[in-house]
Amino acid sequence: MSIRKRLFLSNAAMILMPIGVIIIILFLINVVINGGHEVNGNRWHGPEPQNTELMNDLTKTASLEQEKLLDTQYLKSLVEKSSDGNLKIVIRKGNELIQTTEHVQDISSKELPNFGNEGYDPAGIRLREEHYSVRQHDFYFNDGTKGSIFVLNNSASFVTFARTFFPILFISLLLLLILTNVLLSYFMSRSILRPVNQLAAAAQKIKTGYLDFSIKPKRKDELGKLVQSFDDMRSQLKESLELRDRYENNRKELIANISHDLKTPITSILGYVEGIQDGVANTLTKQERYLDTIHGKATYMNRLIEELALYSKLDVKKLPFHFDKVNIKAFVRDYLEEIEDELNEKGIQLAIDTGDTQANVLLDRDKIIRVMENIIYNSVKYTDKDTCIINVSLVDKGNFIEMVLTDNGPGVSEENLSTIFTRFYQTDPSRKSGGSGLGLAIAAQIVEAHGGTIWAESKPNKGLSIHFTLKKYEGDNHE
Ligand SMILES: Nc1ncnc2c1ncn2[C@@H]1O[C@H](COP(=O)(O)OP(=O)(O)OP(=O)(O)O)[C@@H](O)[C@H]1O
Ligand SMILES: [Mg+2]
Repeated sequence: MSIRKRLFLSNAAMILMPIGVIIIILFLINVVINGGHEVNGNRWHGPEPQNTELMNDLTKTASLEQEKLLDTQYLKSLVEKSSDGNLKIVIRKGNELIQTTEHVQDISSKELPNFGNEGYDPAGIRLREEHYSVRQHDFYFNDGTKGSIFVLNNSASFVTFARTFFPILFISLLLLLILTNVLLSYFMSRSILRPVNQLAAAAQKIKTGYLDFSIKPKRKDELGKLVQSFDDMRSQLKESLELRDRYENNRKELIANISHDLKTPITSILGYVEGIQDGVANTLTKQERYLDTIHGKATYMNRLIEELALYSKLDVKKLPFHFDKVNIKAFVRDYLEEIEDELNEKGIQLAIDTGDTQANVLLDRDKIIRVMENIIYNSVKYTDKDTCIINVSLVDKGNFIEMVLTDNGPGVSEENLSTIFTRFYQTDPSRKSGGSGLGLAIAAQIVEAHGGTIWAESKPNKGLSIHFTLKKYEGDNHE
């Protein structure tokens, strides 16, 4: 249940409870005062709770032998006959009273209910500190005078009962009211305080930098949602801190790799330059050889720096892409035809299977050429066969075109298949190949920037297959 609803209900309960208690008290007062018999201000004329027999006798006498009612002795005998000795009978003829006992001699006619109030009044009248319930029967004397018979009784007075009963009733209702309030307040505050405490404890942990925990909401109310959002925030924060750490480590690793990869050629360049300066290269041929090596190392460094610059621009997404709608089959064929002669000269054979796809692809020509170039020149560089054969094929995969470049070289072991796309990663730790380990990392960045994926497949000694996908140009469907 939402907090808003719970607050509303508990406030309503706090208002309704006293109202309910007051209604119960009023109802009980009504019962005590009127015996619950007062209906619309008229006395109830039904059977009365006590002395019905006595009243019946008196009523009968009133209609058959009226003169007996004026006989005190007769009335006294009736009282004695009844089981209740505290009973008093009063007969009123006009304004005159005929009492049964001396105790009620003080009663004046006015204290008794008027003619026409036939019935039972449990609160009745008060005489000498005692309460009497009053039962009344009205009739007419034969001479036309109004007559009333009153039976007064103090033994079962409701007022006596009420005196003992009311304080207990009042106190217990008051206690009930307090208890309800205390319980409601307790449960309300608990349901609010619990998640607040949970949040405070979590915030404290986060403050100290500890994020390896989770908090679960116990309820589905507003605070529950807050707890959930807080936990989502914590896991987001944790993720971004982890990412930051990863980036930080990557950066450190990158700097270490760059300095290592630049240091090696620069050291040998320095060595050869000093060799020339010191006259170690004392012949022209030797000097030429030294200069060739220096040129080679400088070229390697230049390429490394160029690759590094390209990679880091791709990494921070700073390299602009110029996408064109390109027929992929024609594009691949054109590029491969261009390099085929050069490859053939090196003893490398190209097997091209572009299928029958006519799909168009949105791509940056130069960058996709760079991808293919990096993959093909890897096959050339790492081949261990006399004749290196490179298969290039295009496969239509619905929304994608998949390009597969397979060679017949040594391949890559299972555990290295995904790491070859990591920058600076080379399966040969001695780096004999002279590469920088950036070629496939650059290819992966470019493919991903085209919305595609790149992966490698290889079986031992069966060569390496590099697969990458390119999204088809969707506009074709609407043309
Ligand atoms: N065709 C292949 N056959 C066998 N191993 C390969 C092949 N292509 C890549 N590799 C392995 O994957 C590693 C990563 O290749 P990548 O092209 O990223 O770097 P590189 O060739 O070493 O350097 P660069 O391409 O920057 O000159 C290589 O060092 C090599 O070990
Ligand atoms: Mg390479």
